[in-house]
Amino acid sequence: MSEFKSKIDLNRLPKHIAVIMDGNGRWAKQHGRPRVFGHKNGVRSVRAISEASAELGVEFLTLYAFSTENWGRPTMEVNALMALLVETIGKEMNTLNENNIRLKAIGDITKLPAQSYKALLKGIEATKNNTRMDLILALNYSSRWEIVEAIKTIAEDLKNGVITQEEINKDLVDNHLNTRGIPDPELLIRTSGERRISNYLLWQIAYAELYFTDVFWPDFSKEHLYQAILDFQQRERRFGKTGEQVSK
Ligand code: FPP
Repeated sequence: MSEFKSKIDLNRLPKHIAVIMDGNGRWAKQHGRPRVFGHKNGVRSVRAISEASAELGVEFLTLYAFSTENWGRPTMEVNALMALLVETIGKEMNTLNENNIRLKAIGDITKLPAQSYKALLKGIEATKNNTRMDLILALNYSSRWEIVEAIKTIAEDLKNGVITQEEINKDLVDNHLNTRGIPDPELLIRTSGERRISNYLLWQIAYAELYFTDVFWPDFSKEHLYQAILDFQQRERRFGKTGEQVSK
């Protein structure tokens, strides 16, 4: 077994890991290839990290696959990413089922190109009874969009008398987000050396441990994931309390 894997305390795993998969473009450049080559190789890491997470017993893995801001990239790259999504879901459907992994999505997915949207719905439908781990793709997602949508629905419910102002609390907001029913991520990983959150799960990461690595996404392997989890397990999570209070 790997040196890092054997050190992981399986009783203290993060239930939910969120990942900002970054650095595909720079990885491709390093290899003297077009950006799309980086995304294609990024799919290998998606597979490896999904497999490693499920094997360990992580229950939710959320990957930032396409942000609302990504539409601003060159058309060719956007089209390639959308095609890659369709291709990957088609190819991986059996593996997802064999590994008992349920595919889900967060984001404004109805605005994806028809083919990508269809492939995604097909993948979600085909894996909906799986129970080992939820693999959640953030697609056409941005946290501010999600929060604005939640505010609109809550305001509508308030106006129509479905709820009272006193009923607006954290749980109600949780239940109006795309992530309703999914526990907050305890660990957020961003690859490629950038140290930003980039409009990702802003509400949900209130108490998440942040882990940044210089490794580009296509190079991010199972071993790197194990290292991130070990780093997480070495931290003391206090949730605003004192060290003495949490160690009791
Ligand atoms: C960030 O690298 C990566 C993305 C915006 C897309 C991530 C997509 C994949 C890994 C492949 C498709 C995924 C699935 C789930 C099928 P970047 O392009 O921003 O890299 P750079 O910062 O070096 O330019």
